[in-house]
Amino acid sequence: MENTETIKSIGKEALKDFEKVSSYQEVENFRIKYLGRKGILSNLFDKLKELPKEEKPQFGKELNLLKKELEEKYELLRQKFPKPKEFELKDDLTLPGIKPRIGSKHIVTKTLDEIKEIFKSFGFVIAEGPELETDYYNFSALNFPEDHPARDMQDTFFISKELLLRTHTSPVQIRYMESHKPQIRIIAPGRVFRNEAISARSHCIFHQVEGLYVDTNVTFAELKGTLVNFAKIFYGSDVAIRFRPSFFPFTEPSAEMDVSCIICKGKGCRLCKYTGWLEILGCGMVDPNVFKSVNYDPEIYTGYAFGMGIERIAMLKYGIDDIRILFENDLRFLKQFKGL
Ligand code: PHE
Repeated sequence: MENTETIKSIGKEALKDFEKVSSYQEVENFRIKYLGRKGILSNLFDKLKELPKEEKPQFGKELNLLKKELEEKYELLRQKFPKPKEFELKDDLTLPGIKPRIGSKHIVTKTLDEIKEIFKSFGFVIAEGPELETDYYNFSALNFPEDHPARDMQDTFFISKELLLRTHTSPVQIRYMESHKPQIRIIAPGRVFRNEAISARSHCIFHQVEGLYVDTNVTFAELKGTLVNFAKIFYGSDVAIRFRPSFFPFTEPSAEMDVSCIICKGKGCRLCKYTGWLEILGCGMVDPNVFKSVNYDPEIYTGYAFGMGIERIAMLKYGIDDIRILFENDLRFLKQFKGL
């Protein structure tokens, strides 16, 4: 009795719904509600399975009648409200999917990311500056004398007498110090440009990471400590490190840092030109003249700076002997570093 009532009331409800239908979308809703896979009828058929044997025939008969009735109603509705064009499927959804090809980071980006992470863990924050610079930020403020050869058209892409493409990331030091007070602890990654013939060893565009630390009582020992720590994290703790005296207009004293050759481990090979060492960066204590150009008192403040070429570091790490392939983006090359 109770089952018959259920079927009757569903029939009534369906009739009401049927009369209200006025669009294709509502036809669909009707179908889903009553005839869909998780619809009311399907539920009732599940219920049927669980009924005691003696109630099954009666309920089954009524249920089948209801189903037939609803299917007929649905058919009527379909004719009355046919599927509009915009609902037609254009694609065959049963086709197997196309696997999207997944790219990977370029090894220069990967190297840069690793370097950033290491210095961030030392407390450095990231700073940035423009690629189009003025002669002042790229040279004068960094204590380059007027007649320094780097100002020559040979090395620098001048846009005008005053404007140029920065030849290194060191101008970010000046820009950052102009707008911040010590203590300063930044790294500045970015693209740099040099008017050089493109060869296996040099390119006219490459990337550098600049570092700058300014405070009171900063020592050369701290500079060494920071860079040695960096190299041991980046290359592994068994790497040997040495500093050689060098010259940069904006640091005094200045040095270059070498790491033991990653290929021959110091024995001598083609990569290290049989010296056992590879140069990876330039560094030094900030020259007092640089502090003067940003109005820092060199009697109070001291600091260190360093700069490294990312392509060079990536080439040494991945054993690449021609810088040009880093810029050609040949897929056969790029694919080799997937998943690294
Ligand atoms: N700017 C220098 C270069 O491009 C590197 C450097 C940066 C050296 C900071 C010392 C201090 O070669």
